[in-house]
Amino acid sequence: MPTRKIHLKSFGCQMNKLDSSLVVGALGEQGYELTDTPEAADVIVVNTCSVRENAENRVFSNLGHFKYLKKSNPNLRVAVIGCMAQRLGDELLAHEAVDIVAGPAQLHEVPALIAEAMGDHDKHLSVSEKIRQPAASEQVITDSHKLDDFELAYDTDANHIKSQAFIRAMRGCNNFCTYCIVPFVRGPEVSRPPEAILEQAKKLAAQGIQQITLLGQTVNSYQYKAGEKTYTLADLLGQVSEIDGIGWVRFITSHPGRFDTSILKVMANNPKVCPYLHIPAQSGSDRILKAMNRGYTTQQYIDLMDTARAIVPGIAIAGDFIVGFPGETDDDFEQTVELVRRVRYKNAFVFKYSPRPDTHSEKKLEDTVSDEVKQQRNAKLLEVISEISAEDNERFLGKEVEVLVEGLSKKPNLNRAENNNNPQLIGRTAHDYIVVFNGPESLTGQFARVTVTKTAPLTLFAAPRPSTA
Ligand code: 5AD
Ligand code: SF4
Repeated sequence: MPTRKIHLKSFGCQMNKLDSSLVVGALGEQGYELTDTPEAADVIVVNTCSVRENAENRVFSNLGHFKYLKKSNPNLRVAVIGCMAQRLGDELLAHEAVDIVAGPAQLHEVPALIAEAMGDHDKHLSVSEKIRQPAASEQVITDSHKLDDFELAYDTDANHIKSQAFIRAMRGCNNFCTYCIVPFVRGPEVSRPPEAILEQAKKLAAQGIQQITLLGQTVNSYQYKAGEKTYTLADLLGQVSEIDGIGWVRFITSHPGRFDTSILKVMANNPKVCPYLHIPAQSGSDRILKAMNRGYTTQQYIDLMDTARAIVPGIAIAGDFIVGFPGETDDDFEQTVELVRRVRYKNAFVFKYSPRPDTHSEKKLEDTVSDEVKQQRNAKLLEVISEISAEDNERFLGKEVEVLVEGLSKKPNLNRAENNNNPQLIGRTAHDYIVVFNGPESLTGQFARVTVTKTAPLTLFAAPRPSTA
């Protein structure tokens, strides 16, 4: 029988990308292969995101296209999985293009659901009912580990840029920030057993993986009780770093509430734990932080960043901000700008507030800030962030940095002729700075030392050391 082909479309965060690569891995075990062309696919898998409305709209426009593809290929099966699947369930299943709907906790069922849909040409739904109930959480614990036990697929953009891989430390979220849909679609926090994480890391290291990123929506709340001991993120980082072949360990994303300094200490004392913290503040106004239910004040956040810098000198701090949260005034926004100036982020993402169905802020707070003002604040904040990183990045000029080379840059032919015909490569430093430089493609997946020759807000440009050129 000819190999069946899957076309994958993955939206959203790093956690989704990891899920996609596990699902593709699971389908790979059933003999499926990836294809870039939806027209050539037997199955299309769309892994969805619900965090903002525009992410959902993009999924619907893709489904419109797949409906049309089904007209010429009636055997095509379309599976919609992930957060939107959990949020919309039956409503999504009713869409003409859709055959299978599976939520984030049911992804291990996807191969079986596809096999059924292939056979009976029927529609199949598998999502969590009452996702926030303790019983659902028990089910999530048992079922979700099944997905994580699948082999990761290599060639999705999801995982493995040759030398690096993501591993789930925990899933779900218990914070209930008032704007956020995640707790409703990904369910309660569940930490994976440390042995499972370490075993996966060892397996990946044996395959040549040099960098592991531990993932969790609030990864610093990782906690696993085994007998007398409660394992924390700091323990995990230490143990993963000891695995033969692992050069760097990272983790994303951290929540500023209950952030334990043991994590900073392991970073300071263990050169393999990358000095990089993605720790969203979301706003610099106490009034807004309270309305967001973030659980900290601006001053507490600043104090934590100061502590981080005292314990780990030179630590790179990244963040997320939401502009235009209900009731955000010009003054609130100015306080956010001030916080950005005070913390001096390596980089920060800025999002316009998007009311999400059934969240507290959507139900109880009016979306008062016009889209125009949201847009202005978004642009202004990005400008300040970029001004700061442009200034701060200049300190790298003339300095040698170590990068883990990810592969060809988006413009591999840039400056090629001047560089012994070596293509432009892209790599990242331990502090997560993106570095582009010309060098032999064989450096892909290796650590290399390069000297910074030019800087920009988001990128460092470098020349390789003569020995590697
Ligand atoms: N509107 C806009 N941005 C949001 N985020 C989460 N929910 C929303 C929303 N309803 C942002 C937060 C979070 C990031 C992943 O997405 O900044 O850190
Ligand atoms: Fe959403 Fe807040 Fe949980 Fe992050 S911490 S996933 S923003 S509820």
